Amino acid sequence: MNDAERGLGSSIREVLFTQQTIATRVGELASAIAHDYKRRKPLVVGVLSGCFPLMADLVRGIDIPLEVDFMAVSSYGGNTVSSGVVRILKDLNQAIDGRDVLLVEDIVDTGLTLRYLLDNLQTRRPASVEVCTLLDKQEARTERLDARYVGFRCPNEFVVGYGLDYAGLYRNLPYIGVLKPEVYS
Ligand code: PRP
Repeated sequence: MNDAERGLGSSIREVLFTQQTIATRVGELASAIAHDYKRRKPLVVGVLSGCFPLMADLVRGIDIPLEVDFMAVSSYGGNTVSSGVVRILKDLNQAIDGRDVLLVEDIVDTGLTLRYLLDNLQTRRPASVEVCTLLDKQEARTERLDARYVGFRCPNEFVVGYGLDYAGLYRNLPYIGVLKPEVYS
């Protein structure tokens, strides 16, 4: 039997954050962001592809005027370890000079992706750039940077679900869990 027959959950060793736990925390982040960005009409930028469930849930909880845009970058390819090479696959649809930009990530791991994005966006003269990430894997960090809004500290394990993938799969799990080692070994 495989995932198609037994369900995606059969490849998960341990659930780290349930659907309800995520929903509650995302609601808290949205409230904090709405408070901090009142009257600033932020541009909320999702970093594809992993951001898509978080973006959808987060912006619907932020009850102030805002705009949404997306970037797509690739740093991991098909590997489970960051290559450190970041490529912009899709850039923003608009200029950001004078804008308050909030980058939304599913996870900050080494920080290489975010370091590249922050440096890149700063050259475009925004009023501010802050980061919201659902997961913060601080143990894996090689870059010195911190996200302003963090959902959860994440153990240094290979996690999937709620946007996070392994080889393109598991993004549609409604919770976040640790993959069984036999799945990727
Ligand atoms: C993941 C994640 C972050 C990045 C974090 O993206 O969404 O963008 O890795 O890792 P880092 O801190 O070590 O740079 P990935 O390149 O896997 O693309 P995806 O969002 O399409 O899965």
